[in-house]
Amino acid sequence: MVTQKLLLMKLLLIFVVLFFASTDTTGNLTGVTSYYLSLNSQIQQEAREEVIQIISKQNMRSGLKDSFSCKTFEDLSSMSLLNFILKESLRLIPPAIAVFRRQANKDIKIGQFELKKGDLVNTHFIQSQANPSIFENPDKFDPYRWMNGKDSQYGFSFTPFSLGPRNCIGQYLAMIEGKCKLANFLLNNDILPNKSQQIGLEMKIIYGLSPDNLVYFKKR
Ligand code: HEM
Repeated sequence: MVTQKLLLMKLLLIFVVLFFASTDTTGNLTGVTSYYLSLNSQIQQEAREEVIQIISKQNMRSGLKDSFSCKTFEDLSSMSLLNFILKESLRLIPPAIAVFRRQANKDIKIGQFELKKGDLVNTHFIQSQANPSIFENPDKFDPYRWMNGKDSQYGFSFTPFSLGPRNCIGQYLAMIEGKCKLANFLLNNDILPNKSQQIGLEMKIIYGLSPDNLVYFKKR
């Protein structure tokens, strides 16, 4: 009986961790991306054309307009501009701004920092992802900076899902979800800015924009 209860508790804990680690973060990613697209109508249109071009082959077969009904994994991986747009959003406003702190298990020198065993260490994604010596015009929303395999060049400066053995287990799912949602938004709506709102940045558990209603969806 006790072991059953323990097992249930463990399952509940796993559910809670996965639920909180996965829902707000990806929701925030698509929200922030929609906001940037609302401000950049040219990029929005290019992204829409990419989606239409990729799924039009499928549509011809099925006659469906709803991209959820007809996207395949191959379609998603061909959506390179959407991929760059999501990455650029993650660079500018990463839902997680840091890792959970780590403890040094030995004395070590990292760059200019001398750490003693037991010291607590953390990183700061916003700072590294806006480093002007790595990212030209770091404050500009420029998805094209990711073209031509620049990812490898950015290396440790772009870490929205962290790196190493405790990095995000859901990062590929997050990008797939992001692409599915964006593709659907773009196919069915024009994304317009809500100019009446005062835009701010907010740090709750997740880092993101505030308030919530920063864009309008106008049915196409
Ligand atoms: C845009 C979406 C997401 C972002 C920005 C994000 C970010 C992160 C980051 C930075 C970490 C590392 C934390 C650390 O090292 O201290 C992490 C870990 C984790 N993420 Fe995500 N995540 C996202 C989506 C997801 C999804 C969709 C899932 C589940 C399906 C998920 C599950 C997890 C779990 C379980 C861990 C802990 C891994 C471990 O400690 O070994 N995340 N995430």
